[in-house]
This record gives sequence, C-alpha cells and structure tokens, in this order.
Amino acid sequence: MGFSFECQANCSHTHARAGVFNTPHGIVETPRFMPVGTLATVKGIIPQQLKDAKAQMILANTYHLHLQPGEDIVKEAGGLHSFMAWNQPILTDSGGFQVFSLSEMRKITEQGVTFKSPRDGRIIEISPERSIQIQNALGADVIMAFDECPPADATKEQVAAATDRSYRWLKRCVEAHQNTSKQALFGIVQGGIHLDLRTKAVEQLRELDLPGYAIGGVSVGEEPELINATVKHTAPLLPTNKPRYLMGVGTYREMAQAIASGIDLFDCVIPTRFGRHGTALVQGERINIKNAKYKRDYQPLDKTCSCYACSNFSRAYLCHMVRSQEMLGYIMLSLHNITELIRFTQQIRQSIFLGTFATDFASWLG
Ligand code: GUN
Ligand code: ZN
Repeated sequence: MGFSFECQANCSHTHARAGVFNTPHGIVETPRFMPVGTLATVKGIIPQQLKDAKAQMILANTYHLHLQPGEDIVKEAGGLHSFMAWNQPILTDSGGFQVFSLSEMRKITEQGVTFKSPRDGRIIEISPERSIQIQNALGADVIMAFDECPPADATKEQVAAATDRSYRWLKRCVEAHQNTSKQALFGIVQGGIHLDLRTKAVEQLRELDLPGYAIGGVSVGEEPELINATVKHTAPLLPTNKPRYLMGVGTYREMAQAIASGIDLFDCVIPTRFGRHGTALVQGERINIKNAKYKRDYQPLDKTCSCYACSNFSRAYLCHMVRSQEMLGYIMLSLHNITELIRFTQQIRQSIFLGTFATDFASWLG
C-alpha cells in the first residue's frame, strides 16, 4: 500500500477540510497535530501513551539523528519505526531548518550547507542528495525536501534567493529519492511574508506533482498577524487532493486559522517544551502549575481531558512534583499538553463533519 489522500468533508464557510492520509504505516485523520520526537523519542512519553493521546503521525529530525546515533545505526536497527517501537506513521524533517537554527559556522552554497557539529566540532556537509540519503536510511513514511528557510529579518531579495534555491534543491531531492512507494517526499513552499514569492513558489512546486506539500518559513519571528495572512494566501493555492502541512505551528489560534485556510497537518515543540517548563494548556489557556494558587487545588488539571494526568492526579500533586523538579511532573504535563492539542484538532475535525466549524471555533478565527 502506498500513499493517498482523500477529502471526506469540506466546510462551506471556510477552506477547512477533513480528510484521511493513507501511509504504509497506517492512516492519519486530518486536521491533526503531530507530536515532535526530535531524537526519535517524544521526550518523556512512551509509544503507548502517544497512542492513548490519539497521535497518529509523529515527527523526527534528520539533523539530530545524523549527529546521534547516526542513520547507519537506525537503519541497522530496522529503521526508525522499529528503533523507537512506533508502528504508526513517522515524518522526518530534512535538516536544513535545524542547521540554520542550531549550528555554528554554517556556510550555504549551491551545493548545500556545511557546519560544525555542536557535539564534537566535526565539519559536516548536508546537501539535498545527502539529506534524502539519510532520510531513506531512517525510513520515515514522509520525508521532507531539503530547503533554505530565511530568517524573519531577511530582505525580500534574500527571501527570493532562498526560495529559488529551495526550488532548485527540491528538484535535486526528487531526483535523488528513489523508493517513492515506501516514502513520500513532500515539497516545502518558502517565500516568507511576500505573497508574490509564495504564489510563484506554489506554481513551481505544483509542476512537480508531489504526494504532499508543506508551508515552511512561517513562525520564524514575524508578526503573528503575518503568519495568518501568509497561510491564508498560500494554502488555497495548493492542490486540493494532496495533504497540506504547516511546519512548526502549534498554538490554538494559529492552528484554527490555518485549518480555516485549508491546512491539514501541524507540528510544534510547544506541548513538550511547555511541559518541561511547568506550563499546561488548559481550555485554550496557558497555566503555570508552579503558581501558589495550585498548591491546594485538588481538582484535575482539566476535568474534560482523559489523559493519565487528568484521570489520576490533582493540580496540587502536579504543582508539588514540578516545584520539587520531579521528572514525573514534567512528563505528566507534556502528556497532557500533547493530548490537549491533538484533541483540539480532532474537535475541529468533528466540527467540519458536522458543518459547525465556523461557528463553534469563531472565537479562535476572529
Ligand atoms: N520547520 C519549521 N519551518 C520549517 C521550514 O521552513 N523548513 C523546514 N525544513 N523545516 C521547518
Ligand atoms: Zn489531561
């Protein structure tokens, strides 16, 4: 079985749609939030808990796994699914974005990027071909094009150059990627906040008839309204019969607005990063569980949530654990936050079927 995307319902007031993305490791019902497992582990969470949270596809990173343990070991272990004991869909990001945000001494040329490993100072080169080779060895269901994501303060000329280069690199990725029946290569639309660049990038990417499309280069530090404006312009230009993935976005408002523009998939480190800092997502708000007002609060974090933390523990106990820096506290908050963001996207999915999305989620869409 290969890859296919079916649209099951469309919202009559917005571009929102509910769909199913079929992959060799099972289905992804969209819209859906995807938890991030950078180093082939969603920090602190075991696969059964991810299943209980209704995670379907999860993410891992080429950049991190190339540095440690190296794709050879993952391949020898039988690939990422077997290595991390996750038998559902996996997506790997290509490494480009992480090189720019995480490593020193990077040099970008037409060939690719060169950087110094933050682990041991070794000089590492990743090109489009190398990224595909690494992602082929890792074996995720969805692999991402190797792209150049310019920073928010780049000039329009710089963004245009990075967008053109990302397109040339994408064509090299397509050329290098052979086992298309086992792994779907998604293209990434760049173009920053410049709508004309986004339009041109989509036109070029559509020509390649890829199995899925992502919008990259958003949430890189631009004004929040510009994220929505960019996605609103770009998403409807993408083919309707292919999954659409908005990279690195995972707040309630941004997801609801992007879904209204026709986005299907999201990923973000927010739920796990917040969890590790004592922040819980509850009913659309962020709460700091360390706050003294939770010391004697014997209610669950969220009585409408069915995660392990909300089913068994009180706010007072979570507050105590996080104040004591007990690892279970951070793990429970991460588990709750992941469960909560997946539930949010699932509630939207349900509302699209019912035809009530635009009204039920009006407070997030305005
Ligand atoms: N993650 C968040 N944004 C991006 C992007 O523009 N490109 C890639 N490859 N990954 C991302
Ligand atoms: Zn919960």
